[in-house]
Amino acid sequence: MGSTSFSPSISLSPSLSPHSSKFPNPSPNLFLRSHSSFTPLTLRSNQTRYRFKKLPSSNAPNFLVAASAKAEPLKVIISGAPASGKGTQCELITQKYGLVHIAAGDLLRAEVAAASENGKLAKEYMEKGELVPDEIVVMMVKERLLQPDSQQRGWLLDGYPRSSSQAAALEDYGIRPDVFILLDVSEDILVERVVGRRLDPLTGKIYHLKYSPPENNEIASRLTQRFDDTEEKVKLRLRTHHQNVDAVLSVYKDITVKVNGNEAKERVFAQIDAALTHVGEQRKVNSGSVAA
Ligand code: AP5
Repeated sequence: MGSTSFSPSISLSPSLSPHSSKFPNPSPNLFLRSHSSFTPLTLRSNQTRYRFKKLPSSNAPNFLVAASAKAEPLKVIISGAPASGKGTQCELITQKYGLVHIAAGDLLRAEVAAASENGKLAKEYMEKGELVPDEIVVMMVKERLLQPDSQQRGWLLDGYPRSSSQAAALEDYGIRPDVFILLDVSEDILVERVVGRRLDPLTGKIYHLKYSPPENNEIASRLTQRFDDTEEKVKLRLRTHHQNVDAVLSVYKDITVKVNGNEAKERVFAQIDAALTHVGEQRKVNSGSVAA
């Protein structure tokens, strides 16, 4: 797993969760905190029967996993400071796992480009490196998460939630990821990544002048730079990130996988891939235990 570190435990079954009333339709992919004194157990919640099974040993801690007959699609949140590589990793994750990529920043930039009322207001905050108000962001993200493609293929949520109120809104809607990936990158690297970032408006692909240069002159000539990608603005965005990150992490600490994002993008992806594979294997074990 390299430097990937798993933090055990995850969401609780409806009968155990402190937020049980918020989960009228609980995910079948439920995890219980690993503990040596736990023994396999069966719980009933509404009409769903969950069986808990101790997983075979691996590098990761022992999760106790609850399973129902049919696994839901994977639900992933990816988080990290500005320019930590979220978008870059999302490209690689979606290529392999086929999840629907939902990026709060991209949704907002689409509103800005459309010059909608929300877009005009959002731009004021984005230019200051501040969080766009919840009234705009929360419904936007929720509606995208509930679209049929996200529900059927699973989702990869990028850059949301960024505050305790946004995390609470997801919890209130009963929307909880299977895993929360945190990209950990040192601050000097973040600034360099922001300043060198370029975007291809035709394909949406992310480049970096030094680390990920365009493949040919034609692409190079059409690359654009984001309006908030200056050293001055990234410092403001970083400040906002530091003000909020702990509150968000506290909501997901039980399912957080911290990834060393300082490395080359392929090596970062290898860590994420290992984590997602692990989650997938847990599901297979669960299905097997139910079928057995
Ligand atoms: P958003 O668009 O989400 O920006 P961000 O969080 O600042 O993140 P970035 O998109 O800048 O970076 P990234 O982590 O995706 O990195 P990337 O892969 O591109 O948000 C923008 C603004 O919108 C916010 O400031 C806020 O105002 C608003 N907003 C967004 N979400 C909100 C919310 N939930 N609530 C309220 N407001 C919200 O990589 C960066 C560069 O580094 C690229 O050039 C890439 O090629 C390069 N790179 C990536 N990985 C590597 C690597 N491993 N090695 C070398 N180079 C790499």
